[in-house]
Amino acid sequence: MENRRDLLQQKREESLLGGGAARVEAQHKKGKLTARERISLLLDEGTFHEIDAFVTHRSNDFGMEKQQILGDGVVTGYGKINGRFVYVFSQDFTVFGGSLSETHAEKICKVMDLAVQNGAPVIGLNDSGGARIQEGVVSLGGYADIFYKNVQSSGVVPQISAIMGPCAGGAVYSPALTDFIYMVENTSYMFVTGPNVVKTVTNEDVSSEQLGGASVHGSKSGVAHFTSPNEVACIQSIRQLMGYVPQNCEERAPSLPYHGGNESRPGLMNIVPENPNQPYDIKDVINHVVDDQSFFEVHKNFAENIVVGFARLAGRSIGIVANQPAFLAGVLDVHSSQKGARFVRFCDAFNIPLLVFEDVPGFLPGTDQEWNAIITNGAKLLYAFSEATVPRITVITRKAYGGAYDVMNSKHIGADMNFAWPTAEIAVMGAKGAAEIIFKKDIDSATNREQAWKEKEKEYSDLFANPYRAAARGFVDEVIFPEETRERLISAFELLQNKVKSNPRKKHGNIPL
Ligand code: HXC
Repeated sequence: MENRRDLLQQKREESLLGGGAARVEAQHKKGKLTARERISLLLDEGTFHEIDAFVTHRSNDFGMEKQQILGDGVVTGYGKINGRFVYVFSQDFTVFGGSLSETHAEKICKVMDLAVQNGAPVIGLNDSGGARIQEGVVSLGGYADIFYKNVQSSGVVPQISAIMGPCAGGAVYSPALTDFIYMVENTSYMFVTGPNVVKTVTNEDVSSEQLGGASVHGSKSGVAHFTSPNEVACIQSIRQLMGYVPQNCEERAPSLPYHGGNESRPGLMNIVPENPNQPYDIKDVINHVVDDQSFFEVHKNFAENIVVGFARLAGRSIGIVANQPAFLAGVLDVHSSQKGARFVRFCDAFNIPLLVFEDVPGFLPGTDQEWNAIITNGAKLLYAFSEATVPRITVITRKAYGGAYDVMNSKHIGADMNFAWPTAEIAVMGAKGAAEIIFKKDIDSATNREQAWKEKEKEYSDLFANPYRAAARGFVDEVIFPEETRERLISAFELLQNKVKSNPRKKHGNIPL
């Protein structure tokens, strides 16, 4: 009996060694943590339970049968984040470069299956050289098995990917199929083909960082939703994110206790400038409205003309989508439409109510936008809002012009409540442009053209650059003073918390991809 106990103890200890001390040291030298160090930072202390620690690969080619390492390059299991269960897999770069073998893939698939069965999120910490080259097509099959499960799990449980090392080839597609991607600055890369292949095919000289580093994917491509200066900050941010999302699509996100108080926010009175063409920062509005320090921004440096993120209102988790007048005047373009649509769909899939702040001059004109399919991409946002059945509220702070008025969660596409501030301007376009078109003849024939234009602009502005035309139709439910916003929203979301709405029965819709 003692021998049997010793054997288990010995195997347990062996499974903790990974690829050995030298490789662990090399990992640390690169500024990277090991797979197990990452897990212990991610989960509440003492909650991690490993599964499949004794799994080994089945490859007999290239002398691989002589290199058997317990766990086969990925640590899998479950544990808790702030008391709530999550499943986790963490690739161990010290074992065959974290490369994905048949058995490595089976371990990942097992935790994904358990997560769906038991309704808990999956967090993947990726650090891998990709398909295990010694295993050939078996390893490619393993990737495909993971992709398939990513898709089957999508919308059932939240899936989070952190990229903490190289991530190349097909390996980028599993993270791309998940809900949120984190990257760590200077130590993580994502590309379909690396710099060497790029050089051969296009003769372009590019570094890994320039091709697929965190800053590129956090700001240019939008592939990464979050970037962090180091692994510790990255893992802390994942823990924070989990506080805003439910365990699965049948649940609500956790609420924090809230005891109420004076909900008036006088600080909101002076944010929107007198001059409608002067920018202001919509994040000032958001931060005044939501619970203190609760705004958690997603896609911070990508398509900054729209702001998205989670926050709490009276303790409840909400998703925010807001035009940003301080960047490109808050215009909707290809990237901001994609960014908004993706976020709306996540919130709708996971029962997170949506709050929209609207100040949008319209869609960005020009060949660049048209040739990059602003029509299809703008339609994504329109589709995402129209399809969402979670409670939805809009606050129009200033401009709600043209098609963008319709798109930004208007009542017409299913918003539950629509508030407007006295500074709201709800019209087909700005007064200047409108006057130029509809009063062209009057302006052209006037003796003082400039004067006539100004007069006509004022005429249009007096009629339409306000919220009252829309309020007269019921398109705006209530015109409110800015300082009343928080109180109105708390009460409206409370009213809507038992909203029941479903879309017509169908196999699935066909969002314009
Ligand atoms: C087997 C691998 C491996 C792999 C790395 N290793 N990648 N073993 N299969 N894919 C091993 C190395 O042999 C080495 O073993 C150890 O991991 C560390 O690798 P190094 O090269 O020393 O590390 P580093 O210099 O940091 O470079 C890391 C790297 C590089 C950039 C990831 O290893 C690399 O380019 N690897 C190959 C990447 C690749 O082409 N993968 C296939 C992609 S295609 P020792 O014993 O020396 O420590 C793909 C298809 C998926 O993934 C398709 C899905 C549809």
